[in-house]
Amino acid sequence: LPIALAALAFGYLLGSIPFGLLLTKAAGLGDIRSIGSGNIGATNVLRTGNKKLAAATLLLDALKATVAALLAAALWGQEAGLLGGFAAFLGHLFPVWLGFKGGKGVATYIGTLLGIAPAMVLVFAFVWLTVAKLSKYSSLSALVATLLIPVVLWLIGEPKIALVMAIMTLITYWKHKANIERLINGTESKIGQKG
Ligand code: G3P
Repeated sequence: LPIALAALAFGYLLGSIPFGLLLTKAAGLGDIRSIGSGNIGATNVLRTGNKKLAAATLLLDALKATVAALLAAALWGQEAGLLGGFAAFLGHLFPVWLGFKGGKGVATYIGTLLGIAPAMVLVFAFVWLTVAKLSKYSSLSALVATLLIPVVLWLIGEPKIALVMAIMTLITYWKHKANIERLINGTESKIGQKG
């Protein structure tokens, strides 16, 4: 139990670093939470028009979960790795520093996969890019990709990882409530679009 708690605490702290907010502030772009969707993630950073900053946000938000998963796995074993990634995901979504109002979890979802089931990142990327090409919606692409990942993990015989990723998918869907409503209404903004 102490090991599980240590993996969770460490992952949470790493995950709670809001790179999108920090990078846009450092670049003098103001508070990302008052731009576009108000989200602190890469999709919203792209709405500032700064592609490099958006890419850096995606990379750093993903890698913090990868580092949390890999370090916990190296220190305490594979299952702790899964906990570490999950905790980083929760840290990103509910950071104590931002009054628990964090991001939507797509980058940290990918980063967790990279740490514990790296081949799944290819599946995620393929699905995300395909849906994005067809629809131009970042949210929809993430919703489809995160729905398929637990199914694929289950099918290839990784039930434990599938279960944790399924829980993360559910939380991701819950965090995308407003996006889902906008998708249904036809008012969701497309990739790179302001507003
Ligand atoms: O990764 C988050 C994305 O799915 C939606 O972001 O800013 O359009 O709500 P946003």
